[in-house]
Amino acid sequence: MIDLAVIPVAGRGTRLLPLTKSQPKEMLPVAGKPVVQYVVEELIRSGVHRMLFVTGAGKTAIENHFDIDNELIDNLRATGKEDLLAELAFERKDADYFYLRQRRQLGLGHAVLCAEPFVRGQRFVVALGDSIIGRGSESKIVQRMINLFEKNGDVKGVIAFEEVPHDEVFQYGIAQPGKNSTDFFELDDIVEKPSPEEAPSQLAVAARYVFSAEIFEYLRTTTPGKGGEIQLTDAIRRMIHDKKRFLGVHLSPSELRYDIGNFESYFTAFTEFALADPVYGASVKQHLKKLLER
Ligand code: G1P
Repeated sequence: MIDLAVIPVAGRGTRLLPLTKSQPKEMLPVAGKPVVQYVVEELIRSGVHRMLFVTGAGKTAIENHFDIDNELIDNLRATGKEDLLAELAFERKDADYFYLRQRRQLGLGHAVLCAEPFVRGQRFVVALGDSIIGRGSESKIVQRMINLFEKNGDVKGVIAFEEVPHDEVFQYGIAQPGKNSTDFFELDDIVEKPSPEEAPSQLAVAARYVFSAEIFEYLRTTTPGKGGEIQLTDAIRRMIHDKKRFLGVHLSPSELRYDIGNFESYFTAFTEFALADPVYGASVKQHLKKLLER
């Protein structure tokens, strides 16, 4: 059973300044919830109940968000605002939260490596804390990935991929897909942020991974790559070159990835989620329509 997720949230979010000067990008609101709450809800929906956040400077708001806030609960009761208690229901979801700190910003691969003493020999999920999969995080991609992992005993990792435009491949880990089956493909190679000329495909790593603990052996000896950072992709690549089997899974058409790492995709995600809000969506839509007709 795989029920542990490592959620790297240490990145400074410099592409979203000044928004992220004093608050974590993972706490930015997307309609009615902060990004990281969608990520956790998605994981719980996929049967993952232990969340290990790899945090860094300025990220304590994430810890506060997932705490049970009895003072606030008492206050809502005492002031006759019981109806608002429903908004805090996520605090009671069946999940445990753990935090460890990446003391130096050495890259995503290093952030995952920091989790090794906690993960020990277990298989585990990595879910990037700044990406929501599926509107309202209504996705079970991680469950599909876990099932595949469990069905294929020799596999060392399963990675989610989405098709991206050719001129955007330089922002992602890109797959060289091998043999295709109905619900997955063999991963023959992977390269971090290639130029469009070098890219082996347009299939980009989509922020969700499942690993065997063997990844740590490779992360320990992975030297800095793109951007001078220790890249998770480089460790995966070395494993593949050592004939370790990795599988790729496609996001389904309803599982769009919302990247809260830059303004354009953040604004798009916020608008889309606001329009889908069950209470306010209809009036936001009316307002937008009027604006667009002007
Ligand atoms: C990271 C990974 C990259 C992946 C991307 C989105 O890049 O290094 O391989 O495609 O997340 O999942 P970042 O966006 O942190 O630069």
